[in-house]
Amino acid sequence: MNSAELKELTDEVVVALGAATDDDAVEALRIKYLGRKGILPALMKGMKDVDPSERAAMGIAANELKNAVTDGVAKRKDELAAMNDSEEVSSGFDCSLPGRWHGLGSMHPITMVIEEAIRIFGKLGFVVAEGPDVETHYNNFEALNTPPHHPSQDERDTFWLHTGELLRTQTSPVQIRTMNEQKPPVRIITPGRCYRRDTTDATHSANFHQIEGLYIEAERKVSLADLKSTMAYFAKEMMGDNVEVRFRPHFFPFTEPSVECDFTCHVCGGDGCRVCKQSGWIEIAGAGMVDPRVLERVGYDPETTTGFAFGMGIERIAMIKYGINDIRHLYENDMRFLAQF
Ligand code: DAH
Repeated sequence: MNSAELKELTDEVVVALGAATDDDAVEALRIKYLGRKGILPALMKGMKDVDPSERAAMGIAANELKNAVTDGVAKRKDELAAMNDSEEVSSGFDCSLPGRWHGLGSMHPITMVIEEAIRIFGKLGFVVAEGPDVETHYNNFEALNTPPHHPSQDERDTFWLHTGELLRTQTSPVQIRTMNEQKPPVRIITPGRCYRRDTTDATHSANFHQIEGLYIEAERKVSLADLKSTMAYFAKEMMGDNVEVRFRPHFFPFTEPSVECDFTCHVCGGDGCRVCKQSGWIEIAGAGMVDPRVLERVGYDPETTTGFAFGMGIERIAMIKYGINDIRHLYENDMRFLAQF
C-alpha cells in the first residue's frame, strides 16, 4: 500500500462512518481500523518494510487516517444521539418544549381582602396585631365577658383540644392579648382564622376568617360616632364611594352598646336584589363600645378609658366584592375559580 492509497482509504472511512446508522455500526468501524488486529496497527507494523523514500509520506497519511477515524467516530456518535432526541419529537415527547402555560399566579380573594383592609385601616393609624389559632378559654370567652351560659360557649359550637384549650371561635381574644401587653392608646386590626363547629354549606364554613378591630383612648372620649365614621370610611374604600353604612342594635358580651353594621348592597345599590335578599343591606360586622368589664379585666381604668371594637367576616366581604356565590369556592383551590382573580 502506498500513501496515495492510504488517503483513499481515509476518504472511504469518512463515507462509511457517515452511513453508519447506529452506535454498533460506528463501533464496528472503529474496531476495523483502530482495533488491536485492525488496519492501522498492521500498517504501523509494516512501516519498517516501506521504501525509505515513501516512509515519511506514509507516516503522515497513516496519522491522518488515525485522526479521521477517531474524530469521525466521536462526531458520528454525537449525531446519532441528536437524531434519537428528535425521534422523541415524532413519538410525542420532547423534553425541550416549554411547559403548559397556566398564566401568572394571583392572590387569593381572601388574601386580597385582608391586604386591602390592612391598607385602609393603616391610613387611619391601625397596625396589625396577631394571635394564635389555639386559644385559652379565658381569652376567647371569659376575659371577653362572655358568661358560661352564653350560646357561643356551647360545647357543641367549639372545637376543644384535649389540653383544655380551644380553636378560637373569633378574633376577639387578640383584643385581650393586646391590651394585656400595652397601655392606651391602642389601634389594632387583627386578620386571622377562626373555627366553629358549623356544618359547611354555601354560606358557612367551619374554618373562616375575621378581621377584628380595636380602638382605645385614655386621653379622649371615644364615641359611637367615631366607630360609625370609621366603618363608613372602610366601607367606601373597600366597596366604592356610594356605599352607606347603618347600625342596628344588637348584643355582644364584650361591647355596650353593641351594634350590627350593615353596608348598602353593592349589587343593587340598596334597591333590593337577590344578593341582599331584597333588603338593600348586607350584614358585614359586629361592633360596639368596649364594655367597661373588659377594660377592667386587662387592667385599664374603666372610668377614663373608652374605645370601640368590631369584628367582620372576611369571606362575606370577599363574596360580595367579587361576586362569589358559594363560600366553598374559597377553600377548594380549583384553578378554574382562582384564575379569575
Ligand atoms: N366576635 C364577634 C363574632 O364573632 C364579632 C364582634 C362583635 C367583634 C362585636 C367585636 C365586637 O370586636 O365589638 O361574632
